[in-house]
Amino acid sequence: MDPDSAHPRYQLIEYEAGRDDFAEAVREGLLHPSKTLPFRFFYDHRGSQLFEEICRIPEYYPTRCEREILEQRADEIAEHFEVPITLAELGSGSASKTTLLIEAFQRRQERLQYIPADISRSALEASSQGLLERYPKLEIVALCAEYEQCLRHIEKETLAPKLIAWLGSSVGNLSLEEATRFLIQIRSAMASGDGLLMGVDLHKSAVVLERAYDDAAGVTARFNKNLLDRIDRELAGEFYMASFSHVARWNEAMSRVEMHLRSDRKQRVRIAALGIEVSFDEGETIHTENSHKYSMERIENLVAASDLTLNEVWTDAQGYFALVLATAGTERGNHANA
Ligand code: AVJ
Repeated sequence: MDPDSAHPRYQLIEYEAGRDDFAEAVREGLLHPSKTLPFRFFYDHRGSQLFEEICRIPEYYPTRCEREILEQRADEIAEHFEVPITLAELGSGSASKTTLLIEAFQRRQERLQYIPADISRSALEASSQGLLERYPKLEIVALCAEYEQCLRHIEKETLAPKLIAWLGSSVGNLSLEEATRFLIQIRSAMASGDGLLMGVDLHKSAVVLERAYDDAAGVTARFNKNLLDRIDRELAGEFYMASFSHVARWNEAMSRVEMHLRSDRKQRVRIAALGIEVSFDEGETIHTENSHKYSMERIENLVAASDLTLNEVWTDAQGYFALVLATAGTERGNHANA
């Protein structure tokens, strides 16, 4: 959206970004005996583009499955709540699946306030512009901030009962302990009767999982390797991309897909801006991402541990993906007493 042209139904609130030092994270992650890089650094401009591309590749089922569930259940979700409700979304990105929720709510209430929250201002502006044009009764308060600040804003500034959507199985990046901690944080931003709608990827065969994270067209490989490219661009690194391979492997014991970048030969890589040289053995990897896959039981435990009441767990026809509806309050849902 043109930042100079104020739209009567649009407001952008920018919170100051916390200090998130890429340089420090790279130094620490690559000098550690088992090398890692934090997944959150995937999402620079190029990385966000590549992620959007991942969502369209045939092997990457989560986006498709979640859309299928939303297509079937959006009205049922809307009917769970009193009108009027406010819809908030954590990590809204392109908000391409959110239209299904917006339309379902607008079948019950004419006006709807939508609060997309994302760290990317350009993603917020692009998605908001499209939604405002498409839905004349939609009002948008976009939050450009990190999750914590968004939750604080949503807690304090939202009057109507609200549904907080956290789609795409972003929860998968977190360990069970981190996920519980984060859900407790979400819970504390909720009032009694508010809802949480969360996409969760389910445990399934290793073949399907590994293909989803190592697609034939090599999009996920480019997404992963963009981290090295980012180090080269931003920190004057000298990674020779062709000597690293993208690795996606299913770790059954931890119930997660792990992504790594493997050095195909013994080598030393200079990162000028950090004044360091990183040495790699042949076959040594940098662990770049975890994507945890849940069983029903784990979903139930996670929700219960976060002091939320589980209302519904819907899955797609293949049983690959789950959409979880939980509410704050004490009333018992369908699954809570199972
Ligand atoms: C954004 C965390 C849901 O784990 O499936 C996709 C990121 N990484 N392909 C996922 C991702 C490689 C994605 N999440």
